Amino acid sequence: MPATHNINLCSQGIALKSLFTGYLIVVAIGYMMALVQIQFTHGLADGEFGLSVDDIVYSYYGKRSGSVIEAKLNGSMQLMTSEENRLKVINWVHKGADEKAFYDTGIRQIMDSSCVACHSPASGMSLPDFTKFENVAKRAETDTGASFSSLARISHIHLFGIAFIFMFVGLIFSLAAGVPRYLKAAVVVMPYVFLILDISSWWLTKLNPNFAWLVIIGGGAMALSFGFMWIVSMYEMWIMPRRKSDDRDALLDE
Ligand code: HEC
Repeated sequence: MPATHNINLCSQGIALKSLFTGYLIVVAIGYMMALVQIQFTHGLADGEFGLSVDDIVYSYYGKRSGSVIEAKLNGSMQLMTSEENRLKVINWVHKGADEKAFYDTGIRQIMDSSCVACHSPASGMSLPDFTKFENVAKRAETDTGASFSSLARISHIHLFGIAFIFMFVGLIFSLAAGVPRYLKAAVVVMPYVFLILDISSWWLTKLNPNFAWLVIIGGGAMALSFGFMWIVSMYEMWIMPRRKSDDRDALLDE
């Protein structure tokens, strides 16, 4: 009599289990790399290491209380010129960073005497070139965070890429027989729901900083369901078979 073949993770052969395991491990490392990368791109936005709600507000909404040049002149560029010149530049920024005033009120001279030694291609440092007015003016504008075009670009990459990853992680997890069917269905769709929530909240945060906490909830819930699917799948493939055989069919709602 042929042995009945049960469709669940526990009773698969070594080849399929190894394939699934290899995939799950690589995707988990990829996930960790993504978390490290987030620390570098967004984690430092508020000047301190570690991701916070402020970082998310500064990254997407921007630091609207001021411009980059003012923030720098109150920070790392404070000692590059005299106090008088520093206040003159800040004053020029507050008055609208007008091009005529740039030349008429001596801002051009301040740049030339105090800044272009480093801020020019000739310095060999890859810093914004302040021999050109446009480059100074650009840093005098209010910091409004991520642009809509960069949001559109990262949104579509994330939607396609992450949906694809969760397709396979979810497919493997669907073969776990030990999870009640409604819980299983919920865990499988959760990443998609929270992916949409997470990405919508980038756009919402761009418009209103109060949505920043939604970005954290969306990302956190996605990580949680990923972790749950990962651990359950690994358990049913490698630990459960040592204890008992499994004759349930994970794909049927019986
Ligand atoms: C001794 C070299 C040096 C001089 C002189 C200097 N800077 Fe800088 N500047 C830097 C370096 C290095 C950075 C990048 C590190 C940082 O942001 O603190 C920088 C960054 C900046 C930035 C941020 C640029 C960006 O878009 O990321 C601004 C704005 C700026 N400087 C303004 C000024 C102004 C205004 C002056 C003149 C009063 C000045 N700097 C003089 C070295 C210099």
